[in-house]
Amino acid sequence: MSKTMDLKAEIRRLAKEKNAVIMAHYYVDGEIQDLADFIGDSLALAQEAAKTDADIIVLCGVHFMGETAAILCPDKKVLVPDPAATCSLAESCPADEFSKFVAAHPDHTVISYVNTTAATKAYTDIVVTSSNARQIVESLPQDAKIIFGPDQNLGSYINSITGRNMLLWNGACHVHARFSVEKIMELKVQHPGAKVLVHPECKGPVVKLADKVGSTAALLKYAIADEATEFIVATESGILHEMQKQAPQKTFIPAPPEESFDESTGRAATCACNECEYMKMVTLEKVYRCLRDEQPVVSVAPEIAERAIKPIKRMLELSK
Ligand code: 13P
Ligand code: SF4
Repeated sequence: MSKTMDLKAEIRRLAKEKNAVIMAHYYVDGEIQDLADFIGDSLALAQEAAKTDADIIVLCGVHFMGETAAILCPDKKVLVPDPAATCSLAESCPADEFSKFVAAHPDHTVISYVNTTAATKAYTDIVVTSSNARQIVESLPQDAKIIFGPDQNLGSYINSITGRNMLLWNGACHVHARFSVEKIMELKVQHPGAKVLVHPECKGPVVKLADKVGSTAALLKYAIADEATEFIVATESGILHEMQKQAPQKTFIPAPPEESFDESTGRAATCACNECEYMKMVTLEKVYRCLRDEQPVVSVAPEIAERAIKPIKRMLELSK
């Protein structure tokens, strides 16, 4: 039996013995998605964490996902395989700077994307994900003054489809910001029948090319149900694993980033995928070790958790 197979079996054995649930985001490596008890987008992971009866949650994703689960489940142990797996979008919105922005606009409702630290969520009225942002913004009165942070691209997209004029924080995800209109256009020429699937964290000109704009779960659902047989996918390439698994007869083409540069070789990358290096920090070995040692545990300071839980719970209520 191979070492990888041993690790997988050992992870499953430990999970059963410790009553642990393994949750994974669609962007982590396919072998970890396959091993998980539950895979989902950011909203589904939060919803699942809120209702699980496991004693331990192993959150295979980035740190803010672990924090959200820890805030929702104070009586459970929430583990993340690599605590250094952060998120450039969350990092683009430091809590101290965001709090000043909020304080400067006291008559605004503050909406924060789930890709934020718990400390930033503490200054927020309602959390959203890309699955429910439109619905939640539209639940507020048409003339409501709204701050939306930190993703400027998602905020602009929601402004454009709702006719709102939300005040946007100037943040972005480095993975989604680097998709190239020209390269997607080239792929469309090569694959004239292909539909273009775009995550709303992408820049406006890329979003304009889309046949479908949505969260990872929404793009997956569309790809399975739509009659097209080829899809150009402009989001982190980990999602292609589940797309291919659920629709094996279809072809999924990852949209390439502007510059495909491999830092390890100093040359153009051979793979045209657009990967989030933070999500890819989650490895089988780290999942095994964190379950075995029951660490690193995600801990959120009680005074932050007490404030951050309110906008997260509001999101869950509004998403029912
Ligand atoms: P969703 O899975 O909610 O679409 O989020 C994408 C993302 O960037 C998560 O980090
Ligand atoms: Fe953050 Fe972007 Fe990575 Fe998602 S893909 S975890 S938004 S850096």
